[in-house]
Amino acid sequence: MKRSTVKELFTAPEINSKVLLKGWVRTRRGNNQVAFIAVNDGTIIHSIQVVADLQSFPEELMKRVTTGSSISVIGKLVESMGKGQSVEIQASEIEILGDSDPEVYPLQKKGHSFEFLRDIAHLRFRTNTFGAVFRIRHALAFAVHQYYNDKGFFYLHTPIITASDAEGAGAMFRVTTLEPDGAPKNEDGEVDYTQDFFGRPTNLTVSGQLEGELGALALSSIYTFGPTFRAENSNTPRHVAEFWMIEPEMAFYDINDNMDLAEDFLKYLIRYTLEHCQDDLEFLNKMVDKGLLERLRFVLKHPFERKSYSEAIEILIKADKKFEFPVEWGLDLQSEHERYLVEEHFKRPVILTDYPSIIKSFYMKQNDDGKTVRAMDVLFPQIGEIIGGSQREENLDKLQNRMRKMNIPEDELWWYLETRKFGTVEHSGFGLGFDRLIMFITGMSNIRDVIPFPRTPKSADF
Ligand code: 4AD
Ligand code: MG
Repeated sequence: MKRSTVKELFTAPEINSKVLLKGWVRTRRGNNQVAFIAVNDGTIIHSIQVVADLQSFPEELMKRVTTGSSISVIGKLVESMGKGQSVEIQASEIEILGDSDPEVYPLQKKGHSFEFLRDIAHLRFRTNTFGAVFRIRHALAFAVHQYYNDKGFFYLHTPIITASDAEGAGAMFRVTTLEPDGAPKNEDGEVDYTQDFFGRPTNLTVSGQLEGELGALALSSIYTFGPTFRAENSNTPRHVAEFWMIEPEMAFYDINDNMDLAEDFLKYLIRYTLEHCQDDLEFLNKMVDKGLLERLRFVLKHPFERKSYSEAIEILIKADKKFEFPVEWGLDLQSEHERYLVEEHFKRPVILTDYPSIIKSFYMKQNDDGKTVRAMDVLFPQIGEIIGGSQREENLDKLQNRMRKMNIPEDELWWYLETRKFGTVEHSGFGLGFDRLIMFITGMSNIRDVIPFPRTPKSADF
């Protein structure tokens, strides 16, 4: 007999048919005549109720139907009298697939704290909240590919191990096969990386952008979607050492085209979730963040505010609010500043452009004022920066000048520079932090709770 998922039973029920169900017991209630067993198989947020007449089953068997155990049930699918559930199963056969000792199973009670659940990340998938979060995470990953495929972008697999240290996005994790002690040394007493696996120092990538640009300057429009790594010691609810980023890169796009794409893309993903993940979003809206659905719909309805960094600095200086970090033209914006602009001043997502060149990467297109570059950051409520991007410097001389000023070795990036030497064109791109997007869309306030097994300083469990 073919197994039916809970999702199938709820969405296309064949009333009075005989069904086979497999799943994990969430709760068990009842009296000495009948047991009501809530079974969940993760295919949908709802559990299905299995009704077992205790006279029809051996006591020894029924004792083993406890929270956390896995069972297989054959029975008749009937309309449910209970409120809030459309169908239930009248069990005729029950088999225990795996016992779960109620004395030690850690997910007995409802309402465990997210901190507690982080320590049992191998089991937290079995809670309603994490089931919802990870189903939504899947749906959004799928939607990303759908969006770009429909637009004619090509998915480009940029390398995860890289030898270039030039993006300047953050500290890197070294990749080596040399032993920490006993690594071969050169004449100066330094580690001799010519004897390392790749014959040179290598790292985990902080971004696929530079290679993405090479693709875009031939294929017109590409995107990457993969893991990126940053060895910064940031202990915040928005930073992890391993995160997923989507980086579209487009030839023949200027900064305005880039902003239009970023806004359209974000709105598409929000709309997609509202359309495809209704049950999970409603659960999160009820249990995790009461303003969630309203916030998502609000973002869809209004155009993002587009302002320059300089205008933002003026607003922040005039703000009648005390910030922890200083506000001054030339200093980078901190999360508190970004959130003030979005949540209190404009009350909607904001795209800031034209940042001081001194705080931005070497590859950003230089403006004629000699002070700013054509950067764009998209700032979101609750999150702060969700996207970072720019128009790229396509002029070889200007790019080389800036690299020299910033002490970026040209010989390491000879391949990047050649795209400016041979048939250079205007182009732009950005990076969307996938995990921060999931935070925004699920209302979860800590990035550790939207990644199955998060990696943070001093923590790489599971
Ligand atoms: O602003 P970032 O550093 O930009 C880049 O890496 C560019 N190369 C992107 C591009 O233009 N192609 O990072 C982009 C986004 C941020 O806006 C943020 O959402 C996310 O990546 N991000 C992080 N997410 C989680 N943990 C971290 N440590 C993150 N650092 C950046
Ligand atoms: Mg950034």
